[in-house]
Amino acid sequence: MLFPDYRPRRLRRNEAFRRMIRETRLSVDDLILPLFAIGGKGVKNPIPSMPGHFQLSVDNIVKTAREAYELGIPAIILFGLPDKKDPLGTQAYAKNGIVQKTVREIKNKLPDLMVITDVCLCEYTDHGHCGIVEGNIVDNDATLDLLARTALSHVQSGADMVAPSDMMDGRVTEIRNVLDDNGLSHVPIMSYAVKYCSAYYGPFREAADSAPRFGDRKTYQMDPANALEAIREVSMDVEEGADIVMVKPALSYLDIIHRVREEVDLPVAAYNVSGEFAMIKAAEKMGWIDGERVMMETLMSIKRAGADIILTYFAMEAAKILRNDS
Ligand code: PBG
Ligand code: ZN
Repeated sequence: MLFPDYRPRRLRRNEAFRRMIRETRLSVDDLILPLFAIGGKGVKNPIPSMPGHFQLSVDNIVKTAREAYELGIPAIILFGLPDKKDPLGTQAYAKNGIVQKTVREIKNKLPDLMVITDVCLCEYTDHGHCGIVEGNIVDNDATLDLLARTALSHVQSGADMVAPSDMMDGRVTEIRNVLDDNGLSHVPIMSYAVKYCSAYYGPFREAADSAPRFGDRKTYQMDPANALEAIREVSMDVEEGADIVMVKPALSYLDIIHRVREEVDLPVAAYNVSGEFAMIKAAEKMGWIDGERVMMETLMSIKRAGADIILTYFAMEAAKILRNDS
């Protein structure tokens, strides 16, 4: 098809044509809102690098969760800020830990909102690593049992799905087995299967107070240079029983989302991370970009790359726009 016989502009003439031939559709159904739970009452600590986001105590998190639910957002994912940290991250799997209490309260007030919990130790360990540290080395196998206990306690508190983000080898098997052994075979696992060691997590680590106190996460999170390794990670998690596989971050890794989409027949999720959110907010604040349009274009690009599900701090804002569109 060549000009002048073919003129692509014919089908761009007006909004009706554009709507009709649109290949990718973003929906509020695709969105998951991340929330940060902290102890106390009436707490709403602003997170400076993530405008519009807060560390919220249970009463306030229920309010925000209700708002999300009323906007049609199907799910939230919870991160916890414990009262105290220790080498073994014991608050991560404590019966009355911050996430456990928060899940119980949200499910009690909003039974139809899906509550997903992030399963990791970095917010709970005093050294800030995602696993147990033995002589400055993160011990993979010793960490697995604690991750499984964390996942189990989240689900026993009412979590609808668990999302391990630690990047220890073999944790999906471990979590699947523990859930199954406890009569929870119906609860799915959304695995952070492909998680890169990324500088884009900066604002999150401030929000969740989870930065490593020494070293970095390069021995467990993936090297940003690797793509074939992403496929191996995904295949492993699929074999181990993951129900949804996630790629994280999203924007610098759209090629990886695309490859993963081609590789598996499971739902694919992508995490539009804190640094990606912060960059858009900052440029908008400077008056350098139209923040709302860039937000929608960004979310659309993640969907077009192949993600079925998008975890994003834009969930509320995007949901408001999507609702008015339909
Ligand atoms: C914890 C965790 C992190 C994120 C989600 N779960 C941070 C990290 O690995 O350091 C990042 C989320 C974001 O940046 O929005 N393992
Ligand atoms: Zn972690």
